[in-house]
Amino acid sequence: MKRKLVVANWKMNGDRARNRVLLDYILGGMPSGVDCAVCVPFPYLPQVGEILEGRAIALGAQDVSEFSGGAYTGDVSAAMLADWRVRFVVVGHSERRALHLESDDVVGRKAAAALGSGLTPIVCVGETLAERESGAAEQVLLRQLDALAAVLPSELQRVVVAYEPVWAIGTGRAATAEQVQEVLYFVRRWLARHVEDANQVRILYGGSVKPDTARQLFGLPDANGGLIGGASLEAQPFLEICRAAASSARSS
Ligand code: 13P
Repeated sequence: MKRKLVVANWKMNGDRARNRVLLDYILGGMPSGVDCAVCVPFPYLPQVGEILEGRAIALGAQDVSEFSGGAYTGDVSAAMLADWRVRFVVVGHSERRALHLESDDVVGRKAAAALGSGLTPIVCVGETLAERESGAAEQVLLRQLDALAAVLPSELQRVVVAYEPVWAIGTGRAATAEQVQEVLYFVRRWLARHVEDANQVRILYGGSVKPDTARQLFGLPDANGGLIGGASLEAQPFLEICRAAASSARSS
């Protein structure tokens, strides 16, 4: 798979005026040869969906309920997202795992709910610094991935996996290329045991990706793109990251 996927995760940022300006800039400079999605807070899905209508950037959300509907105050179902033509949804982000106590099983069920409504879940996995330093990183990743396989045996082929080491998120300290490739390869081998064609599943890296590190990270053998937080909130760095993805796909 040559084309890379670059996904902006705005997290809890933005307002209607800023969203429009940011997206106008991004749409004006988006290079060809890269797939792109923007995952925005729920209230802005209609606005951003309208701005992106017919354009080359896909609409994404940042979470989805594991349930299909009913008495779940504050939750948003996959069918509701699909109703707004959402294509991607981030599930199991480490911020939700940590702040909302989402377990591996919940994350698996959210991914299944997304797939059930025709959305592509971007499933985040990753270890904390303590887990890495104690040598438990692979065990943690395996646990997170296995929970997914338990829920989605026949549909795993359609997920996107994002490796986001918790210690690299928002810290300015991206994992080294070597560290990233080691884990991406680990994920690829895991996929090879669970899906028909592991090379067709996209694996992204996320965690302090910046324009100056993007090219090297996207050029790694098992990297199919990136999940971008802070650097997606301004047009210039985000576009540079998209250009890096487009050119690394060309040269691979
Ligand atoms: P930063 O790019 O700000 O480190 O965030 C990464 C992330 O959490 C994307 O989901």
